Amino acid sequence: MKAIVVTDPAAGMSGMTLDERPHPEPAINDVVVEVHASGFVPTELDWPSTWQDRRGLDRAPAIPGHEMAGIVTELGYGTTGLTVGQRVFGLTDWHRDGTLAGYVAVESRNLAPLPGDVDFAVGASLPISGLTAWQGLIVHGRVQSGQSVLIHGAAGAVGSMATQLARELGAHVIGTGRSADRRTALEFGAHDFVDLDTDRLEDAGTVDVVFDVIGGEIQKRSAAMIRPGGTLVTIVGPPESRPVDGIAIDFVVESDRAQLGEIVQRVRDGRLRTHIARAVDLDEAVAAFNATERVTGKTIVRLSSHSGG
Ligand SMILES: NC(=O)c1ccc[n+]([C@@H]2O[C@H](COP(=O)([O-])OP(=O)(O)OC[C@H]3O[C@@H](n4cnc5c(N)ncnc54)[C@H](OP(=O)(O)O)[C@@H]3O)[C@@H](O)[C@H]2O)c1
Repeated sequence: MKAIVVTDPAAGMSGMTLDERPHPEPAINDVVVEVHASGFVPTELDWPSTWQDRRGLDRAPAIPGHEMAGIVTELGYGTTGLTVGQRVFGLTDWHRDGTLAGYVAVESRNLAPLPGDVDFAVGASLPISGLTAWQGLIVHGRVQSGQSVLIHGAAGAVGSMATQLARELGAHVIGTGRSADRRTALEFGAHDFVDLDTDRLEDAGTVDVVFDVIGGEIQKRSAAMIRPGGTLVTIVGPPESRPVDGIAIDFVVESDRAQLGEIVQRVRDGRLRTHIARAVDLDEAVAAFNATERVTGKTIVRLSSHSGG
């Protein structure tokens, strides 16, 4: 099968190549999915799990990408809950070959059914951004109606999801980003916007929850804006700063079938809009990931040969 492959941790995105890889074999409780569309998080080439398996052994050449939508083609021994021919979407194991490929083997429990009226491209854009926003706000941030939430990178892939969910939860949402992101962040539902290039962050006042996708100095200044009892939730590694009288939480997104179901239902009924910046074919993916222009939102890779397109 065709796949995007990385072999050199030092090469970054420029080390990606389109190659032939063996068809994956399903393990116990796995399914094999014919990938119709895949997402990708550029920073994953810096994650240890891209280069080592769970025993710490080198796993290059590795296939990146860990979210997808497609059709189940095979069941592993003992697999229940999904059937051959079913449309599915979800998050795949960080330590195994990923989704920028014709087929992927993945534990069935990591996937959810993809309703027939949701495009594969939309389905592939939801798992990482949607689950990260859901878990950050609801599971870890415990955002309540009436609270004030500062969401960094509100026009980005995760931030745009978090902005919409925080609004649905009844929070007052302050989004941040670059000057060019103001309109997008407000369109996704932010009540206010802080331009981190020109505005003074602290002028936004105090907040109950900070959703951090940036880290560093921005995280430190944001932590100081948190009210007593509030929470800093960060998705960019162990917190470097903590609120004086509150908690700081970092997490890595986990698959959750029920949460995927909640997210896709919101997409179907219009409560949640995914932020797809561009969709490219697998043959174009290496060039797209190495392009120099700024892209806000997700890049989705289509497997046109599987979609008949
Ligand atoms: N822990 C987890 O489970 C998890 C899950 C998903 C993502 N992540 C991580 O979270 C981060 C965000 O992911 P994403 O997919 O949402 O990325 P993204 O789509 O690039 O969104 C991030 C947004 O924040 C903006 N931003 C970053 N630094 C900024 C700064 N100093 N000032 C103003 N704006 C800034 C970016 O603008 P520019 O593009 O101009 O910088 C972009 O619009 C990544 O580091 C990713 O690896 C972690």
